[in-house]
Amino acid sequence: MNKKVISALLAASMMTTMLAGCASGGSDNAAATDASTTAATEAAADTESTDAAPADSTGKTVGISMPTKSLERWNRDGSYLQKQFEDKGYKVELTYSDNKSAQQNNDIEGLIADNVDLLVVAAIDGEALSQVLDEAKDAGIPVISYDRLIMNTDAISYYVSFDNYTVGQLQGQFVADQLDLENQDGPFNIEFTAGDPADNNAGFFFNGAVDVLQPYIDAGKLVVPSGQTKFDQVATAQWDTATAMKRFQNILGSYYSDGTQLDVALCSNDSTALGVTQAIESDYAGSNQVLITGQDGDEANLKNIVDGKQTMTVYKAVANEAVVTLDLATAMLNGETPDATLIDKSGWDFDCSYDTTSYDNGTGIIPSYLLVPTVVTKDNLDDALVTPGYYTKDSDGYLHPVG
Ligand code: GAL
Repeated sequence: MNKKVISALLAASMMTTMLAGCASGGSDNAAATDASTTAATEAAADTESTDAAPADSTGKTVGISMPTKSLERWNRDGSYLQKQFEDKGYKVELTYSDNKSAQQNNDIEGLIADNVDLLVVAAIDGEALSQVLDEAKDAGIPVISYDRLIMNTDAISYYVSFDNYTVGQLQGQFVADQLDLENQDGPFNIEFTAGDPADNNAGFFFNGAVDVLQPYIDAGKLVVPSGQTKFDQVATAQWDTATAMKRFQNILGSYYSDGTQLDVALCSNDSTALGVTQAIESDYAGSNQVLITGQDGDEANLKNIVDGKQTMTVYKAVANEAVVTLDLATAMLNGETPDATLIDKSGWDFDCSYDTTSYDNGTGIIPSYLLVPTVVTKDNLDDALVTPGYYTKDSDGYLHPVG
């Protein structure tokens, strides 16, 4: 594994203890994850080296605006990003905005007022940041749209994410393979749960999955008893677990209480999959194991995968996303205009593509660095997550994120 990534992983637990001191953002910050620091992790962190280390990073400040600590992955993103930048001599201001768009606007205004040199922003509402990012632009502060594309502003220079459409395709293809839909007639019953309409990623995930599964729906091999097949019908505000649970309890009560078998719950991510799993546990009359998809590798979901309650998750190595963001930001702050050559220059040992066609934010195409997601099931948990150092495994076989 890339030395930079190993270092980020090993040292991230140390960073989580520092989050509360570095972040602002009210109640969200109280949820900082506890993690212990070991001499070993500190020693490993000290050995980090980066080929593309900037000569002039010292004294520069990067403002990082994350959406919320209530969704697990953003805690890991914040830790990794902070660690990456600080190890290169940058100062970091990290904010979490409690999933409140108005608060994120205020937090970004604060970062601009603090004269940060660059902003990394994962939007709560991709449509709600145009004005504040115009202020950043006026102040000459470049902006990287992190993980979620920020819409309707020409203030953002680059987008760093995973291939979001592929995430959905992996989920859809997993369902097709597991049910052997090429050869089996079914019909199998499926219900969809998608993400937050305010998150530009959510449509990509949903469309990726539906594009794979639609031919089987058209052929009558897959049936949606609720009839809820449109994104707006299946979306989940703020990716909220309880919201997903309540909607699914209603579906089970309305369409499955007569003994109809549910075969698949296609969920766009782990926080929604958690709610759907809870609904199935409490309100599903059937006894079959429902195939449930997810995304992120959240701790509770990995436990459910080990326990056989969730079937798969699509894992996105956010440690690598932080590495790409650091090297991109460094190039930008060094006055370069990064393009596809950044990938070769940086020497990452993970796959990443440079995309100049897929992500139009309403002002034009935003050049994008897209990492590659991985399917994780009970069968490859160790190889995909433990061996690379992203998670540790306890004596009961459950996984715990590093960072
Ligand atoms: C998306 C992100 C997913 C998931 C979701 C909820 O934007 O790409 O990985 O975490 O938000 O936080």
